[in-house]
Amino acid sequence: MTLRVAQDHPKGTYDFVSMIRNPFHDGLRIEPAPGASALVIFGASGDLTRRKLLPAIYQLTRLHRLPPRFSIIGVANTPLDDQAFRHLLGESLREFADLEGADAVAQSLAHDLHYLQGDLADAGLYQRLSAKLAEVSPGAGVLYYLAIPPAIGPTVARHLGAAGLTTQVGDRQWRRVIVEKPFGTDLPSARQFNELLHEHFSEEQIFRIDHYLGKETVQNLLVFRFANGMFEPIWDRRYIDHVQITAAETVGVEQRAGYYDSAGALRDMVQNHLMQVLTLIAMEPPVAFTAESVRDRKMDALLSVQPIIDASTGKGLDAVVRAQYAAGWVDGREVVGYRDEPGVNKASTTETFVSMRLELDSWRWAGVPFYLRTGKHLPKRVTEIAIQFKRPPLHIFKQVSPTPVAPNLLIINVQPDEGISLRFEAKLPGTRMQLAPVMMNFRYGATFGGEVPEAYETLLLDALIGDPTLFARHDFVEASWALISKVHEAWAAQKATAIPTYEAGEWGPPEAHALIAADGYRWRTL
Ligand code: BG6
Repeated sequence: MTLRVAQDHPKGTYDFVSMIRNPFHDGLRIEPAPGASALVIFGASGDLTRRKLLPAIYQLTRLHRLPPRFSIIGVANTPLDDQAFRHLLGESLREFADLEGADAVAQSLAHDLHYLQGDLADAGLYQRLSAKLAEVSPGAGVLYYLAIPPAIGPTVARHLGAAGLTTQVGDRQWRRVIVEKPFGTDLPSARQFNELLHEHFSEEQIFRIDHYLGKETVQNLLVFRFANGMFEPIWDRRYIDHVQITAAETVGVEQRAGYYDSAGALRDMVQNHLMQVLTLIAMEPPVAFTAESVRDRKMDALLSVQPIIDASTGKGLDAVVRAQYAAGWVDGREVVGYRDEPGVNKASTTETFVSMRLELDSWRWAGVPFYLRTGKHLPKRVTEIAIQFKRPPLHIFKQVSPTPVAPNLLIINVQPDEGISLRFEAKLPGTRMQLAPVMMNFRYGATFGGEVPEAYETLLLDALIGDPTLFARHDFVEASWALISKVHEAWAAQKATAIPTYEAGEWGPPEAHALIAADGYRWRTL
């Protein structure tokens, strides 16, 4: 990563580096900051723009992390104009950034907001976009954000290329593209999309976003493992018994049936978010904190994941459990079953819950099972990684404590109560020797206080700076689909007309418990 300082631009001298105060060291550390740029959002009237992108841009503006010359061009087919798009910004900030009215930051942001209405498949739209860019941000870098369904992504990429909008001029007039997940819907479509993108952009220009990688706690996995000397020596099959990764949500499908009913939990959460988390746990140490080194090591870890389905026998589906929520109670509220949700096919067999066992064939992990589970309408919103260590080889306290001691457990709370906890045995105070498990807790809120940036803030800024470390590389996306698509194919071959169900508000179906119980374990009670 290179740092540049004090470049000239029309509004005066602007530092290309921001100074950030580090609370644990004297002085300031230097962070790169983006130069003059424009953000073009395809899908500007959609949910993602309102819920995540506009609030993230607002926060970055408030924190002075965006350059003074920064414009936003929203593009969509919805009939809006600049004024209506600015109104949408206000609504978005009220709803998702808790902003009452418009403060000075929102007003200045609104001033730099523009809207282009048109059919994304119409070449004329891209000519108008080209003219708009020349008008509002001449000589600047341009970041395209594809906040659109995966089926439309290739059309936009093709038109951007054909209109000459992907050509970079010098260092300052860079062109980059952020592609939202899901990246394709299976291995062939992801491959095709990668090939098409590579016709118009180089890999350095492509930023495949997975917002889990922007979460503070997920980034902290790298720091926890590789900035400390004491964990890495025991981070392997000799000391670790098994790993559980849970991403549980209380929400149901909400207004997203159109997308979700053809996706399901495996595509929506496992192919991307959970695979990213898994590889951050399993990867070898990179030689440096650079995009290529980190992503190379993650890729190695992903390639060591054994195929879930055996290609020659078609067997392996018993390592994957899928289920769909039936009516029940969540957060004290009665909710309908998935098939009764608006927009969902009444005979849908789409899974809203998945749990699976994965094995990694590597020197570090051979024989250590990784269990993954994710689902909607589960009892609690919690994402955590639980690493269970092996018990001590000898239980020397058996005279006073006949039952085996609880194994050490390292819990990484990704959300909502961000932190890390370690469970270990302690002597209960008293004249007799009695043991009890205790927790040592680190909590982000209590330790650091202050605001934790939303994942989209971090990732937008990284893409503007041109740092792809926290984005998925083409080979990762394809290798992940290679694992997941086989499961979809095996499910399709079953031609099932029914799917196991779980009552909304329960921790998945009995099959999920049986999956892990077969190996002698239990899912953690959360
Ligand atoms: C998205 C999925 O990628 O992640 C959603 O499409 C899911 O279905 C969401 O609800 C979960 O994200 P988070 O940040 O709330 O854990």
